[in-house]
Amino acid sequence: ALRQSVTPKAQKEKQRSWNHVQPQASYKVAVLGAAGGIGQPLSLLIKMSPLVSSLHLYDIANVKGVVADLSHCNTPAQVSDFTGASELANSLKGVDVVVIPAGIPRRPGMTRDDLFSINANIVTALIEAVADNCPDAFIHIISNPINSTVPIAAEVLKQKGVYDPKKLFGVTTLDVVRANTFVAQKKNLRLIDVDVPVIGGHAGITILPLLSKTKPSTTFTDEEVQELTVRIQNAGTEVVEAKAGAGSATLSMAYAGARFVESSLRALDGDADVYECSYVQSDLTELPFFASRVKLGRKGVEALISSDLQGLTEYEQKALEALKPQLKASIEKGIAYAQKQT
Ligand code: NAD
Ligand code: LMR
Repeated sequence: ALRQSVTPKAQKEKQRSWNHVQPQASYKVAVLGAAGGIGQPLSLLIKMSPLVSSLHLYDIANVKGVVADLSHCNTPAQVSDFTGASELANSLKGVDVVVIPAGIPRRPGMTRDDLFSINANIVTALIEAVADNCPDAFIHIISNPINSTVPIAAEVLKQKGVYDPKKLFGVTTLDVVRANTFVAQKKNLRLIDVDVPVIGGHAGITILPLLSKTKPSTTFTDEEVQELTVRIQNAGTEVVEAKAGAGSATLSMAYAGARFVESSLRALDGDADVYECSYVQSDLTELPFFASRVKLGRKGVEALISSDLQGLTEYEQKALEALKPQLKASIEKGIAYAQKQT
């Protein structure tokens, strides 16, 4: 019955919009760690963007097959494969946005900080290559623990003399995606309408959803605030436990990562109304890195949205003070690691 209701003309129209026959812009995006659990679906979603003309997929193995597979999708982005350290530099030449989901994921019982030593090494090597080959690109770091890997990346870029704090982002979009989903479910709101800023960092109590700033304006009981806050903070662990040893969030992360890429490309393309939460260099608090809503523009972060931190509830204010020592320690650990490498 479904097939009969779709006329050939309607089908053509549908396919035309799906294929994005008329690309609106032509940006180059690289994904480092593209053959992984996040990398593959993230690359698929980026391949669907009408803003992307060229998609470079890099990994230490298995990337050829991913590219052969993706390249059959009839969307305009041309996909190319790059395997192993000898092809890393070429994967980065001329790239506008670099997304980094390379690194090991958690298993049950682990904290994100347990990933530090392996992922710090991986991120350092990849950022050195970014510094040498596409220092002007927007850099999106997904590899955990991002509370530390972003400060590491900043140090590496500084050591290379190419650090632009406006273009280095820790991807915290998944926290916002989760907050929006859980709040809409709890309060019976239309998903599309809900927007909850999430500030701080991306691990445990450093993840702080500002429920009092939910749009549309929504009231919560104290119990609802407690329950939703804890669920958002533990949502990554919820997935790690459900996957029972097979890794952490990949599909929801790919969705969130693709949203952040699309927002960055819209900003690069001159859209003047692009806002996302991200973990960036910041002066909103005494901590040198902090996640907040940011306004994105052609040159990266155009403004940090300070108004979200005003008029916090007592619960949020206390939670903010409680997260600071933990976030500070993770930042300092990252900086100390990077400084020891030189
Ligand atoms: P995965 O193991 O499935 O994939 C990781 C990929 O990285 C693999 O393909 C591996 O070959 C590749 N890789 C390893 N070393 C590399 C190197 N030196 N250069 C390039 N690629 C390399 O893991 P995953 O589930 O995709 O998770 C990746 C990372 O993302 C983990 O650190 C995880 O904790 C993190 N993560 C972050 C968020 C977030 O919200 N920021 C969400 C989910 C996962
Ligand atoms: C997440 O929030 O899902 C990621 O940071 C992965 C993890 O380890 O929880």
